[in-house]
Amino acid sequence: MLKEHTDVVVIGAGAAGLMCAIAAGERGRSVRVLDHANKVGKKILMSGGGRCNFTNLHTAPENFLSANPHFCKSALSRYTQWDFIALVEKHRIAYHEKTLGQLFCDGSSKQIVAMLLAECERVGAQVQTHTPVTIEQLGPPHRLSTPAGTITCDSLVIATGGYSIPRMGATGFGFDFARDQGLKVLPTRAALVPFVFEGRKLEQIDGLAGISLDCLAEAGAGQFREGTLFTHRGLSGPAMLQVSSYWQPGEPVRIDLLPELDLNETLRRLRAERPRAQLKTVLAEHLPRRLVERWCELWLGNPRLAELGDAAIADIVRRCQPWTVWPADTEGYRTAEVTIGGVDTDELSSKTMEAFKLPGVFFIGEVVDVTGHLGGHNFQWAWASGRAAGQFV
Ligand code: FDA
Repeated sequence: MLKEHTDVVVIGAGAAGLMCAIAAGERGRSVRVLDHANKVGKKILMSGGGRCNFTNLHTAPENFLSANPHFCKSALSRYTQWDFIALVEKHRIAYHEKTLGQLFCDGSSKQIVAMLLAECERVGAQVQTHTPVTIEQLGPPHRLSTPAGTITCDSLVIATGGYSIPRMGATGFGFDFARDQGLKVLPTRAALVPFVFEGRKLEQIDGLAGISLDCLAEAGAGQFREGTLFTHRGLSGPAMLQVSSYWQPGEPVRIDLLPELDLNETLRRLRAERPRAQLKTVLAEHLPRRLVERWCELWLGNPRLAELGDAAIADIVRRCQPWTVWPADTEGYRTAEVTIGGVDTDELSSKTMEAFKLPGVFFIGEVVDVTGHLGGHNFQWAWASGRAAGQFV
């Protein structure tokens, strides 16, 4: 049976763990990255529809949710999106900006995983899959057991991510370990996730699946101007994923379906200009026809504009600006891109990511209570926090 000592063990060969291994290896530290899954970087591979939205040109601390919004600043400022872009360019990976600063590979997410593995190889960091790990004793040195034997290390990095997409190997390992060691773990929930409707609300959107439109969505303190997509179960699309991070069960989501238009003013003006026009015709000039037909059938009817009094116009406006919905739930960890909450940043040094109470133990990436908006920010946090720890492990 194997019995060996290495300077650093990283548990989790995802975005944060691999970046940490590269940074530590560059400093001459011996590094082993251990992952229980059968493949490295599974979430990188599936991200961005197979093209990996690997960072965002505009990443800034404002793009993150955390109980302590200042915590992410240090790591993000020491390893920026420009640093990661330089790495991508060094490896000659072609990329493009899709929208809103989001950078995607022209080719495939596999190129990002290959790049990270090439960098690990360059610095001598060893990456091992199919390796479940048990932490037997904390030190330093820390003692870990794997099916192949025992490993001791001076620095232990927990980079096991969150609960999202369990079928991809996601576990609560990092949260459980932190809790067992007496660290505070803030409540977790699925985020960047579609909403689901039930009962009458679901019936109201029956037949609308596939309709997508630009809108201004709001839940809690989150407000985003992006696309919304009707699905068979509820609402998805970037705007809904973004506001899901701010939504709490039982709360409404407000969706302005016509963010560019003052509907009240428009209907009053058109009532004078085109009194014989029907409401359906006028609304369909601004909204998808199928949606208009449903809205008219459910709530608005189809009067001629001349028949509409000011109160009736106000009522129509109220239905659309905003349309207020109470989702039954989200699709949960099954489809969520990230887990919100996690290891309380008060337990960690923002400079090194080391746990104050556990010398030589570091937490990086999604396991920490730092969650990015949609659009490449979560990977930038993984790279930056991994890099930060890699300077000190
Ligand atoms: P990550 O989850 O990447 O890695 C954790 C690793 O730990 C995994 O390899 C896992 O197998 C391993 N592990 C877990 N438990 C273990 C255990 N007990 N023992 C050993 N190993 C264990 N973000 C973004 O910025 N742009 C994007 O385009 C996307 N797209 C996207 C699509 C989908 C479908 C999902 C689910 C997520 C995204 N994300 C994203 C989010 C992004 O993938 C996520 O924020 C990062 O992968 C987090 O990186 P970590 O390294 O922290 O965890």
